[in-house]
Amino acid sequence: MTDHVFEDSVVIVTGASLGIGREVALQLAGRGARLVLAARQVDKLEEAAQECRQRGGQALVVPTDVSLQADCRLLVERSVQEYGRIDMLVNNAGRTMWALIDEIQDPCIFEEIMRINYFGCMYCTYYALPHLKQTRGRIVGVSSVAGKSGVPTRTGYAASKHAMVGFLDSLRIELQGSGVSVTIAYPDFVATGMQSRGFGTDGQALGYNPVKVEKVMTTEECARRILSAAARRKREEIMTLRAKLGVWLKLIAPEMVDRIARKAIKQGR
Ligand SMILES: NC(=O)c1ccc[n+]([C@@H]2O[C@H](COP(=O)([O-])OP(=O)(O)OC[C@H]3O[C@@H](n4cnc5c(N)ncnc54)[C@H](OP(=O)(O)O)[C@@H]3O)[C@@H](O)[C@H]2O)c1
Repeated sequence: MTDHVFEDSVVIVTGASLGIGREVALQLAGRGARLVLAARQVDKLEEAAQECRQRGGQALVVPTDVSLQADCRLLVERSVQEYGRIDMLVNNAGRTMWALIDEIQDPCIFEEIMRINYFGCMYCTYYALPHLKQTRGRIVGVSSVAGKSGVPTRTGYAASKHAMVGFLDSLRIELQGSGVSVTIAYPDFVATGMQSRGFGTDGQALGYNPVKVEKVMTTEECARRILSAAARRKREEIMTLRAKLGVWLKLIAPEMVDRIARKAIKQGR
């Protein structure tokens, strides 16, 4: 039913060089979208763009560090210059952490995570908004279950995802009647290399993946759910039964949610 929604649509995907963002872009390309691929690693973006074109979509690469306000503004300007419109913005770029707070050597990583996960989403949305209003477009935020509840080893990450959710939930109310929809996706663990790229206790990339990737959601399934929710202009997409249960449990027995979160991190799934 929603197969043709994205045909010829102009879509900006941040964090399109790897993982979920790359897969979202590829699936959109297969549906005939005109893409703008944003991230820092240009070679990886070019590879993704090539694959998008092979699948039948158009793709423009715009090297972007979403933690920089000027880059977010240029990303939107370049998109409009190329295609003349924006139909959807997928705020997907993100960085995580895997470190207990009392083991962190320098708390500056909290600021860095906030700049990427929250300010990146906010600036891209701010600059794209006038264009999205013209097309009655779609805003998508890829949050996390850590945007719904606390998660140990993720203090800074959960804070940034809660901030992102607060921003997008408020924006949805402001946009009522404008025709622009706001969809927030809440993935649980997904089989990408995100954890190994996240900050460890020393402020460097962790370098290994503590998640049992064979037991968690695939990037293909995650991207498919994000796009299905966006196509239907759904308010939110909570991706696992555990996370759906957590929303209700938080109201009646929040300590149970704490236990589930602790166990998930311990087991890596
Ligand atoms: N994987 C999971 O288990 C999981 C679970 C819940 C939510 N999520 C969320 O899903 C989103 C995608 O995660 P993923 O698993 O696909 O991670 P990933 O494989 O590590 O990919 C992250 C993407 O973000 C980009 N990025 C990082 N810092 C950036 C910056 N400063 N400016 C622009 N782009 C930047 C990276 O590209 P460059 O390095 O080229 O810049 C990359 O394309 C994130 O928001 C994450 O929080 C993931």
